[in-house]
Amino acid sequence: MTDTSQTFDDASPYLDGNFAPVTEELTAFDLPVVGEVPNELEGRLLRNGPNPIDSPDVSNHHWFLGDGMVHGVRLRGGKAEWYRNRFVGSQRAEDLLGKSYEQPVTASTGPNTNVIGHAGKTFAIVEAGSKPVELSYELETIGTNGFGHSLLNSYSAHPKYDPLTGEMHAMAYAPLALGGMVEYIVVGADGLMTKTVQVSAPTMPMMHDMGLTQKYAVILDLPVAVDIELAMGGSPFPVRWFDDYNARVGLLPRTAETEDEIVWCEIEPCYAFHPLNSYDTEDGKVVVDICRFDRLFDRDRNGPFRDSSPQLERWTVDPQARKVNRELVDERFQEFPRVAGSVLNQKHRYGYTASVGLTPTEWNFGNTYKYDFERGTSETFDHGPGRDAGEPVFVSRTGAKSEDDGWLMTMVNDVTTDKAELVIIDAQDFSRPEVARIQLPARVPYGFHGNWVRDTVTPPPAD
Ligand SMILES: [Fe+2]
Repeated sequence: MTDTSQTFDDASPYLDGNFAPVTEELTAFDLPVVGEVPNELEGRLLRNGPNPIDSPDVSNHHWFLGDGMVHGVRLRGGKAEWYRNRFVGSQRAEDLLGKSYEQPVTASTGPNTNVIGHAGKTFAIVEAGSKPVELSYELETIGTNGFGHSLLNSYSAHPKYDPLTGEMHAMAYAPLALGGMVEYIVVGADGLMTKTVQVSAPTMPMMHDMGLTQKYAVILDLPVAVDIELAMGGSPFPVRWFDDYNARVGLLPRTAETEDEIVWCEIEPCYAFHPLNSYDTEDGKVVVDICRFDRLFDRDRNGPFRDSSPQLERWTVDPQARKVNRELVDERFQEFPRVAGSVLNQKHRYGYTASVGLTPTEWNFGNTYKYDFERGTSETFDHGPGRDAGEPVFVSRTGAKSEDDGWLMTMVNDVTTDKAELVIIDAQDFSRPEVARIQLPARVPYGFHGNWVRDTVTPPPAD
């Protein structure tokens, strides 16, 4: 149960320890490696996160509001060719760092939440009103570019790639531009927006992510929403928990042209940033594996970790009964769930998450968990004392013989060296040591999301 007796009116902890930003943009070549980088890996492991450019006010700094910084490691031919970290282009970076870009940037703060490769390009992305910022292969900002300027409004940090169609599906919210509407957006394999459906959401919920199945977009309308009074009062993060909220999960057919076809299903109030994956069942229901918080942004208005702790659940959404059945998968705290790209939006057997260590005075990520949902078992990869792993990105082996035949890549911060490593582990064998530990020249602060972007998806510039 959540302890609601405690309040948090102290300074924001989201600048302490490895939450603290780094100040320099670095470039390093031929990185030292312990172990062996698999020879077939040719591309970039990219990760985005908040990294304030200047010194924020510690009394009320919100973790989600730091300027975007993308970290990247380029792998080829068994070598780690380079590491780069770059601030994502923004008006603040122009003003405070004197940056200039090939094309205009429209956001005050650079998108800080995810970084993707799609249709030959690289984009830094975020929710709540900003358009994607296109980056070069070497992570320099080109400019704000909403998918060849086809995007009408805002975007999301969590597009769902569909390996069967090559499309990306997303739910975007943008209170300033869209008011009480949210937008379902499809971007085609060619990198241009092909479809939008506007959906009424009068409470202006913080719709961080979505689910996607072969039939449906799964819409999460949960009790964290814009507070008009906070917004009018100039709060930089005017979003909070609401008691007495009509929490609901919507199933919007992917073929729908309007919101009329949505089936809304009721759920007990809670919040979830991230589904692990979603799929249709043979009896017409939808399974969503998801990391769920009891409540969020209620007493702690500076970040996600002090109101409750995220646990992995299986939600079964029943459009006939219009209900969501919840089942706890694991009591341990965890976040940043991922699956293999090959099973996105289809039935998965395996899932991967990062453990979250939480006490009222300490917040850290830690180990990597693997779940076998078919057998109901889990395994833990322990990265060692003082070594905190982030989101585990699954990379399939060429010619993979099973869903988990591949590697997990994650940024690991080591408090003893105050530097990070890009760690590659064997997804099928957690008992062996890391396949490779690629040593980076600096810390990678706790951040959010990233991806392995193969050179076949977003190629390097021609020599
Ligand atoms: Fe996220």
